[in-house]
Amino acid sequence: MALESRLRLPLARPAPATAFLSGSVSKANHLPFSLKPASTSLSAANAPPPVVVVGSANADIYVEVDRLPLVGETVAARAGHSLAGGKGANQAACGGRLALGPTYLVARVGDDANGRLLEGALAHAGGVRLDRVARAPGAPSGHAVVMLMPDGQNSIIIVGGANMEGWATAVDPEDLDLIRQAGVLLLQREIPDWVNIQVAQAAKGAGVPVILDAGGMDAPVPGELLGLVDIFSPNETELARLTGMPTETFEQINQAAGACHKMGVKEVLVKRGSQGSALFVEGEDPIRQPIIPATEVVDTTGAGDTFTSAFAVALVEGKPKKECMRFAAAAASLCVRIKGAIPSMPDRNAVMSLLESAQVE
Ligand SMILES: Nc1ncnc2c1ncn2[C@@H]1O[C@H](COP(=O)(O)OP(=O)(O)O)[C@@H](O)[C@H]1O
Ligand SMILES: [Mg+2]
Repeated sequence: MALESRLRLPLARPAPATAFLSGSVSKANHLPFSLKPASTSLSAANAPPPVVVVGSANADIYVEVDRLPLVGETVAARAGHSLAGGKGANQAACGGRLALGPTYLVARVGDDANGRLLEGALAHAGGVRLDRVARAPGAPSGHAVVMLMPDGQNSIIIVGGANMEGWATAVDPEDLDLIRQAGVLLLQREIPDWVNIQVAQAAKGAGVPVILDAGGMDAPVPGELLGLVDIFSPNETELARLTGMPTETFEQINQAAGACHKMGVKEVLVKRGSQGSALFVEGEDPIRQPIIPATEVVDTTGAGDTFTSAFAVALVEGKPKKECMRFAAAAASLCVRIKGAIPSMPDRNAVMSLLESAQVE
């Protein structure tokens, strides 16, 4: 079936995606965020274009143990459970909750029980279009065993599985078609670099802005990928790793962001945990966004994914960068109040209420 009929994509995009990057639409759109309609459809007259996330989906198997087993030893866990995760799935779930238009996840899972767990969790998370989540034959779904110790330490073993091996030798043309019609392409580093490069090339060729979250593999980012990225988003640790520079103070981060500009990335969106975030656009003054304080910080898992994805959602709506950051900070502030990644991602109305109350303070 043709992509158009399968996805019911409109023939023309509502607005050229590049306009959001140039900031040319920002003033006219400097309006309060609007409520999310009950159902999002691509055919909706003025819905923003889709957020497309290409990335990993992982079944995270948590086991609570008193200590790690020794070689040859079997230990009984006090408890265990499996949750959907992976940075691609996390960011798509967040987009699904927040975006006014549709959010697609392009991912590869295995034809196995974990794959079905992932599909079920994402469908349940609400709003994520799973049309392009394909079951790869011959590779298990990506999964991780997370061993949680009573002192809060953890040890993790990751099986890349379909996230790494499920992509054949070239990205599916239907995936590339979808990306060309997106309002933004959101990437991370838990799938092969060559996949990220191919999808970023498709986006670039169609004028679709590309955001790369630096989270995932602890390996250098290929220059070819950086050259295709419009907004690079590391946390302070990832920024230090990439540049080999210290990133403790704001001034150090400013310098390191400058090094990224020299590598060919015009915009660097740095996440700094409880210190907030900052956007460094080459040749412009940095934009700083403090955190929106949480009533109680329960678990920061997924805060970075929530921040990047919420930023992308606001960007697709043509919001000015400063407002995108506030929206992202509000979403991330809500995320840290609840345990888990996907279960803690807020819906749009909660973000808007927090933004309203934070404005009044
Ligand atoms: N304690 C906190 N209270 C409120 N917001 C927070 C807190 N910690 C993190 N955040 C928000 O989450 C964003 C992302 O968290 P961060 O730790 O920087 O990302 P990562 O998970 O990638 O390391 C921060 O920029 C901030 O807006
Ligand atoms: Mg952090």
